[in-house]
Amino acid sequence: MKNKATGKSYAKIIWFGEHSVVYGKPAIAIPIYSVDVTATIQKITDGHQIHCRYFDGPIDELEENLLGVKTLISHLINLFGAQNVAFDLDIQSKLPAERGMGSSAATAIAIVRAFFAFFEVNLTRDQLLKLANIEEKITHGNPSGLDSATASSNMPIWFIKNEINEQIDFNLPTSSLVIADSGIKGKTSEAVSLVHNNIVDEPENAEPLIDHLGSIAETARDALATADDELLGELMNQSQHDLSRLGVSNRTLDTFCRVANDNHALGAKLTGSGLGGCVIALAKNQADAQQISTALRKAGATQTWIQSFKNYQFSTGEA
Ligand code: MEV
Repeated sequence: MKNKATGKSYAKIIWFGEHSVVYGKPAIAIPIYSVDVTATIQKITDGHQIHCRYFDGPIDELEENLLGVKTLISHLINLFGAQNVAFDLDIQSKLPAERGMGSSAATAIAIVRAFFAFFEVNLTRDQLLKLANIEEKITHGNPSGLDSATASSNMPIWFIKNEINEQIDFNLPTSSLVIADSGIKGKTSEAVSLVHNNIVDEPENAEPLIDHLGSIAETARDALATADDELLGELMNQSQHDLSRLGVSNRTLDTFCRVANDNHALGAKLTGSGLGGCVIALAKNQADAQQISTALRKAGATQTWIQSFKNYQFSTGEA
């Protein structure tokens, strides 16, 4: 056992396929390396301690998230037979919670990595995802697994629930994604139930939208392979239209998409579960990305990030 160990993970952005991924359709998601979570475990003289300073606010507002985190930590303590080990667990997160950026999955991944590093045990990717799922099931009910798969990846991924979790490469050296946080919380479990209810109540409307979102993801994969940024933008606009018809957008997210498109975005859409959270916009170059980011802040975004695809390759070498 070490005296101190850390585990890291990243925010995720679903580029294509949120919600439809729950119904077995493909999705494309990317880790955002600048928005990370670090969990640090340190030996202390006695007692267990968990420090958790979220970027987003006081711990008591995050009780539901924390139930999953607490269960995961108890599971890990049992797994390592560490009931009598005194440690301090400090979780530092740059991710706002409940904004579609995968805060809970990223926290779980960082904690699992920190525990395995602390107890000096090798961790496979499969084990990592299974353990993170203990937390995700409590927080989200029946997650597709896309959030943990992306938060633990060092590359963009192509994902089909229970089938494919494959890293993908693309070359869009001048383009960037602008991410804008509406500051509005959106609960994944509520958004997923809303879509489920729409499918049960109005299958004739909802099922074609799910199918279309899946085929958009397929086309987007080809567009990434051929670096067709104009088509990617168009597909983002189409996704937003479908997600809005499924009921998971809102007036603020619609406005952000319009503002981004009025400011030279190639396309824009909500990302993650919706009902709040973030919008992403594709910019052709750095100058456009800055303009879109400034316009979105003026339109009320509480924060924005620009993820450039120049030198996007990244490897942590971790499971
Ligand atoms: C949440 O980040 C993404 C959803 O597709 C739910 C899931 O994949 O479990 C809405």
